[in-house]
Amino acid sequence: MNISMVDLKTQYHRIKQEIDREVLEVIESTQFIGGPKVNAFREDLEKYLGAKHVIPCANGTDALQIAMMALDLKPGDEVIVPAFTYVATAEVIGLLGLKPVMTDVDPDTFNIRADHVEAAITPRTKAIVPVHLFGQSADLEPIMAVAKKHNLHVIEDNAQAIGSDYTFSDGTRKKSGTIGHFGCTSFFPSKNLGCYGDGGAIMTNDDDLAAKARIIANHGQARLYYHEKIGVNSRLDAIQAAILGVKLKHLDEYCAARGKVAAYYDYAFSTVRQIKTPARQPNATHVFHQYTMQVPEGDRDQLKVYLAEQGVPAMIYYPVPLYKQVAFADYWNGGELPVTEHLCKTVISLPMHTEMTNEVLEKITGAVKAYFAAK
Ligand SMILES: Cc1ncc(COP(=O)(O)O)c(C=O)c1O
Repeated sequence: MNISMVDLKTQYHRIKQEIDREVLEVIESTQFIGGPKVNAFREDLEKYLGAKHVIPCANGTDALQIAMMALDLKPGDEVIVPAFTYVATAEVIGLLGLKPVMTDVDPDTFNIRADHVEAAITPRTKAIVPVHLFGQSADLEPIMAVAKKHNLHVIEDNAQAIGSDYTFSDGTRKKSGTIGHFGCTSFFPSKNLGCYGDGGAIMTNDDDLAAKARIIANHGQARLYYHEKIGVNSRLDAIQAAILGVKLKHLDEYCAARGKVAAYYDYAFSTVRQIKTPARQPNATHVFHQYTMQVPEGDRDQLKVYLAEQGVPAMIYYPVPLYKQVAFADYWNGGELPVTEHLCKTVISLPMHTEMTNEVLEKITGAVKAYFAAK
């Protein structure tokens, strides 16, 4: 039995006919950049998300950079990010000459918290980037309230949570990525909505911000060869858009399949006292980009080795707090954030994809349980 963290091949084979037809159509049309497939996908995604504007771009990192550029921030302005995230979130902040200010996260949901955000605000703070880590929205209602109070922009990093919902206290339900001033996402192949190469998108309900982001993504031009701003070249190509158009129709079904895997893991590990299974926030749906559990610090690395010996892969997302990454040394004051430190030593992510069989799940959970039974 060959177990992998993700299985894009089986997933492709289930939709092969449609994908192949769409890709061939693009090749036959020779409309490789822009054109009807990109427009159709943009419109379908706007509809699916309930977002006024979707601006497709080349990848999720570009999406964050373009959103940040559209806010007209000045060098030295501060942007608050969680310390427990993928590097892309903070990388673009540094690249633009802004200062990433890293805050601790919630020990149960792994997400940034409004109270930590508020404590990190200074007169130079201009924006907050909540990351919806592993597939579950950060608790955005209090974060949006803090942003409003301090006149800050919010850019949601929704690379890992496309398809998830967030419910406000008045019952309003929105898709993650459509709540902040900007939402950014990635269509990296292994993402919940992944293409067959690189891709990304920016979401916003603000007409002015949308216009700015669109111009920046297109070499700073609204009219061909008339450049208003220094921009970037960031496009979602037509083949990827065509593939995403097919896969978007399956996104809810894919999220549900991931949810079933998570439920299987939860149940299997409910009797293992050393395992803390991932928490569900009551006002958000979890689309399980990753199934990330916490185990005792002394066991985490050993468990990973043991699982590998049993033919079960596992990954550590993420082993190092952002402020301890060498590239971010200039932004670190030497202090440690206790929850982030703890998570970096205790998290482990198990295989999670849309094609998992009970046989595979039995093997994975059996191996994890065997490790702890011997303790
Ligand atoms: C949280 C987060 N932000 C941003 C990105 C960047 O996306 P991309 O790899 O498409 O540039 C990723 C994905 O890798 C991610 O997981």
